[in-house]
Amino acid sequence: LLGSLISRISPNLIRYASSSSASSTGRKVAVLGASGGIGQPLSLLLKLSPLISDLSLYDIQHTKGVGADLSHIETRAKVKAYVGKEELGNALKGMDLVVIPAGVPRKPGMTRDDLFNTNATIVADLVSACAKNCPRAIIAIIANPVNSTVVIAAEILKANNVYDEKKVVGVTTLDVVRAATFVAEAKGLDPTKVNVPVIGGHSGNTIIPLLSQVSPPVSFSQQELDSLSTRIQNAGTEVVEAKAGTGSATLSMAHAGARFSFSVLEALSGKQGVVECGYIASHDGEFSHFATPLLFGRNGVEKSMGTGKLSDYEKKLLEKAKKELNTNIQSGLTFAKQYL
Ligand code: NAI
Repeated sequence: LLGSLISRISPNLIRYASSSSASSTGRKVAVLGASGGIGQPLSLLLKLSPLISDLSLYDIQHTKGVGADLSHIETRAKVKAYVGKEELGNALKGMDLVVIPAGVPRKPGMTRDDLFNTNATIVADLVSACAKNCPRAIIAIIANPVNSTVVIAAEILKANNVYDEKKVVGVTTLDVVRAATFVAEAKGLDPTKVNVPVIGGHSGNTIIPLLSQVSPPVSFSQQELDSLSTRIQNAGTEVVEAKAGTGSATLSMAHAGARFSFSVLEALSGKQGVVECGYIASHDGEFSHFATPLLFGRNGVEKSMGTGKLSDYEKKLLEKAKKELNTNIQSGLTFAKQYL
């Protein structure tokens, strides 16, 4: 009954209830920062998935309580809670996928880059532990500024001789989720059926929604293009301001992180044609890292689907993004050099 109810609500939610995949090899997933605003609801959503056999919760505080609570839910995943640095190695051993929402969130008036000093070190420490304990895992980075933290992760894995660029991805799914919601609202469409690719990076100007490539195809006036693009780029700030100093997006991010994770896990299990946008090492253009739609497979990202043909409007957005994206990438490289 739950399955049929959920399937009427949203195709994305079928992933929580579908029993057909429960017989497949269960995957091992770790959430680092599991006690946080994103970490708790993300861990809840992951606990509901029949794809996951083991859910490892790590944080520097409160994970024992979060773990005890989630462990009572009658679903497949066995929950284990780890707290503090000395338990980090055990939290990571054998993992197929490590999702990282650890770090401080924005307060009103802050940019994602203002989080750099704190979060860069947190991500560097956590990824160093991944290099030692689960070098083959796919690493999904939520911690901001994503444009830099992914670059840091890549440098650390390189220094440990375990870098596989197909396995380190910055999670930009929330931009895609927001874009679909706002376009559906503007055009009176079912949001679960709308797909809007978002390329570039994950902060302000670097978020480039491709409104010329919306599926199903829709056309926009110049005014709609301006207002929708601006709203998608500033949607995170909308939430930061509404939360008035208590944090940034957590619930919608938990959904986006779970959606991304399920896509990765389905592709690992052999599902064909799984595409999600993500920020990853790139060799196609002038940036060492760039977000595009990515095709996932049994070993992580199989290939980037590229940007497709950009409209003149999108070419201008890309032009405006260049400086910030390059600066963010450079900050990541500079930090990694000092850290290593
Ligand atoms: P939060 O402050 O509620 O939670 C962060 C958690 O990380 C806390 O439980 C904290 O104890 C933990 N933590 C801190 N240092 C740690 C360490 N060294 N190891 C393990 N855990 C550690 O913050 P929230 O709201 O959950 O946000 C987390 C991050 O996600 C922020 O950097 C935020 O900017 C980012 N974010 C990213 C989005 C995206 O689209 N990629 C969207 C929204 C937020």
